Amino acid sequence: MRQPSTILVTGGAGFIGSHTCVELLEHGYEVIIVDDYSNSAPQVFDRVQRIVGRFVGAVHKLDIRNRHALSAVFDQHHIDAVIHFAARKAVGESVRMPAEYYDTNVGGTTSLLLAMREHDVRQLVFSSSCSVYGEADGGPLSERTPARPTNPYATSKWICEQVLSDVCRLHPGFTVLSLRYFNPVGAHSSGLLGEDPHGVPDNLMPYLAQVAIGRRDRLNVFGGDYATADGTAVRDYLHVMDVAEAHRIALDHLSDRPGFRVVNIGTGKGSSVLDVIAAFGDACRRPLPYQIVDRRPGDVAALVADPAVAEREWAWRPTRDLAQMCRDAWRFQQLNPLGYRASEVTSEEQP
Ligand code: NAD
Ligand code: WQD
Repeated sequence: MRQPSTILVTGGAGFIGSHTCVELLEHGYEVIIVDDYSNSAPQVFDRVQRIVGRFVGAVHKLDIRNRHALSAVFDQHHIDAVIHFAARKAVGESVRMPAEYYDTNVGGTTSLLLAMREHDVRQLVFSSSCSVYGEADGGPLSERTPARPTNPYATSKWICEQVLSDVCRLHPGFTVLSLRYFNPVGAHSSGLLGEDPHGVPDNLMPYLAQVAIGRRDRLNVFGGDYATADGTAVRDYLHVMDVAEAHRIALDHLSDRPGFRVVNIGTGKGSSVLDVIAAFGDACRRPLPYQIVDRRPGDVAALVADPAVAEREWAWRPTRDLAQMCRDAWRFQQLNPLGYRASEVTSEEQP
């Protein structure tokens, strides 16, 4: 089977999606983007275009749950394969709004699968998450580690994996690679693309970046009494451009064999919260203020990938270290102190 060349990217305006579009466009792929901008902004495509020096491709503003509109996109373009990023991703919000999370994440995925089946598109790369491992504390976590999701967001990803596995089993020729990312951070080295969360950031690296730029006073470190070397929680941070490359490489392997497959996307190296604070302080050349507070409910001591499958079978290996993740995130923060939508930021948000 020939390699896919025109890729439908759902959620292509988002953090990982926009970096992956750069990677694909720079490697000769055509991309068709679908996004409803519920957690992103269309300005991102001007920036993608500036980086790659060519037209981004067709961009459709729509909610993937709108089956009629999604089907029309497949009618308009010849699509070889799909990368499916579009989802809601905030763990805390998912606990408050479980039905919305299942609706978007599971309902969005089934809507996409129906459109794919209707148009005989059978190759999909799916955004899964290390959060499906849940309470599987310790590590390294291999793809064979049993899933134990502990919140509606993680459960929604786990349900999607079951749906995708069933579809592959019942429709021979269908191929899904489900990439379980660990903690993607950082930004494009140009400083044009990065992570631009709406409101107060939930995640460590964007919060630290806002402390460094003076938009927040200090970081609250959630828990200093974990059974780790320095007492703070350990995660497997990886550069978003390494994640983007993993998607391009996954596309090359969609034709290896049909069926459903899970692949971890991580570095295998853990860093504590204090390690990240120190590395970001080095990047911005000043110590960053923090205080240790209570643990965040639902957090575990350590989540670190066993990345052996991607390395052995795809020769994919992340190449950017924590220092580079922090340097690139800091460059994006400096060049975009209020994110992509600066003009829309409210007065309380001004630094
Ligand atoms: P993001 O929120 O930046 O990107 C998601 C994009 O999907 C956004 O542009 C959003 O507007 C769009 N979207 C959401 N719902 C939609 C809908 N119904 N229809 C159309 N578009 C919709 O998130 P991200 O960090 O780029 O994550 C991408 C994917 O990777 C998600 O599926 C997420 O669950 C998964 N993931 C992310 C991380 C992480 O730490 N960032 C880790 C593991 C997995
Ligand atoms: C990292 C560490 C916090 C903020 C999340 C999702 C997971 C996946 C990746 C999507 C933890 C600590 C954080 C802060 C802190 N996403 N922290 N102060 O929780 O490992 O994973 O992103 O699939 O599903 O759960 O990432 O960046 O929120 O936290 O001390 O203000 O930083 O306790 O140890 P997490 P994170």
